[in-house]
Amino acid sequence: MESEKLIIFDTTLRDGEQCPGASLNIAEKLEIARQLALLKVDVIEAGFPAASPGDFESVKQIADEIRGASIAGLARALDKDIEAAARALEKAARPRIHVFLSTSKIHRKHMVQKAKAEIIDMAVKSVGFARQFCDDVEFSPMDASRTESEFLVEVLGAVIDAGASTLNIPDTVGYSIPGEFAQLITHLKENVPGIDRAVISVHCHNDLGLAVANSLAAVQAGARQVECTVNGIGERAGNAAMEEIVMALRTRRDYYGIDTGIDTRHIQPCSKLVSSLTGFFVQRNKAVVGKNAFAHESGIHQHGFLKRKDTFEIMDPKDIGLDESELVMGKHSGRNALLHKIKELGFDLTPKELDAVFHEFKVLADEKKEIFDDDILTLIQKQRWVAEEQITYRLEKIGGSFETGVAPEGRVALRSRDGQEHDATASGDGPVDSIYNAIDKITGLTCRLMDYQVMSKTRGKDAQGEVTVRVRSDNREVIGKGAGVNTLEASAQAYVNAINKLLMKTKAGPVAPGEAPGP
Ligand code: KIV
Ligand code: ZN
Repeated sequence: MESEKLIIFDTTLRDGEQCPGASLNIAEKLEIARQLALLKVDVIEAGFPAASPGDFESVKQIADEIRGASIAGLARALDKDIEAAARALEKAARPRIHVFLSTSKIHRKHMVQKAKAEIIDMAVKSVGFARQFCDDVEFSPMDASRTESEFLVEVLGAVIDAGASTLNIPDTVGYSIPGEFAQLITHLKENVPGIDRAVISVHCHNDLGLAVANSLAAVQAGARQVECTVNGIGERAGNAAMEEIVMALRTRRDYYGIDTGIDTRHIQPCSKLVSSLTGFFVQRNKAVVGKNAFAHESGIHQHGFLKRKDTFEIMDPKDIGLDESELVMGKHSGRNALLHKIKELGFDLTPKELDAVFHEFKVLADEKKEIFDDDILTLIQKQRWVAEEQITYRLEKIGGSFETGVAPEGRVALRSRDGQEHDATASGDGPVDSIYNAIDKITGLTCRLMDYQVMSKTRGKDAQGEVTVRVRSDNREVIGKGAGVNTLEASAQAYVNAINKLLMKTKAGPVAPGEAPGP
């Protein structure tokens, strides 16, 4: 069947990152952008440059470095936002300015306090202004699915005339249902003047668990761009999950007859990276990337599956980059073998990073009999958590007494950037608490532990544990990560990692009051 192409617009770094607790630093955003480029997404929405200096800088760095995908920056329909987006995107090979403005009755009244005519005027002016900086301008009428359809037709016709080449239809509050959303797209296709000069895009939120279904229904009705995020992260219940859309179209190509340009073998590594950097675990039974997505438990299923895979498996795990977590290497493996494996996993390390990962690999190989792909991934991540330039403290060692029936006492040694070693001992409600109290004594910060999770990275009793903490201090909340066979040490590393982030001065502050972005 002759197939058409669907544009995949990834907004993990903008709408995904916007959800509470997901905040990523610039290095982390760049790392995700590199993985998105390997995935071959068509557009990377890198952020909202006017929202904060940190957002501006990350969009700029992504635009400067990443090639292949278009790089989009979000802007309200305001000159200062559009100028900020244009400046951040100056060096992008393929920049896109994405302008949004509320159009629904409820948003017109309570969000922007503007009448219909003023909305059209603002939309047209802002698209025209954005076109002065770049040819590729996308317009989103925010809360489109709750906007009067005739008004929507009017706004969209006007912005096409003003130069918008992509019209994005957001289901901002996840209110639509598939049949209805498809009808809306059909209605727009049939009624918006000049619609043939633009690509129709959709952007669905998952409040009713329908983001992917709505997106696919819209594609059937003629949308040719889908906005989505890795693992479906995003505001509230999230956005449409990219991996689900891509694999649905691929698996049911017979039905949709639509291709994406995605290199699906990078889906799994990208999912793991996003989960690890945001601290949002992927639920076990999540479609496509959940741990159980390819696990067959029931006897009948296993029986069929062993005879012929496609009795119970509609996708090949290899297609999403999931190989049976292979045994990769042992303590006799050399640097070249490790480099080869790292490349195979999709990472390009600097010689310095490789040295550090190789060193850690040898240490791990002494502690652990079997080393899996996930162990190597964890070592790479770990290296990046501790390789940031702006590290104030490094964990040197932990110790203490944690006997049953005796109040726990944690001992910690940290080394500060000036080379000094700091030791402290503290008690606490448990071993982790006592270690964290000892760290607080050294840093002098008052921190609240908002969340603490440990996850085993591979199988076996000697598996590395990955610890994720969410720490709050002075109204700032950050994620910290640590990993290792010794879970207490990994817990301390995670906490120190969070503290280093809190101490980083360059981190973007909150958006000024009254400046809060819409969606
Ligand atoms: O959900 C939404 O409406 C958005 C727009 C900015 C596209 O994120
Ligand atoms: Zn959104």
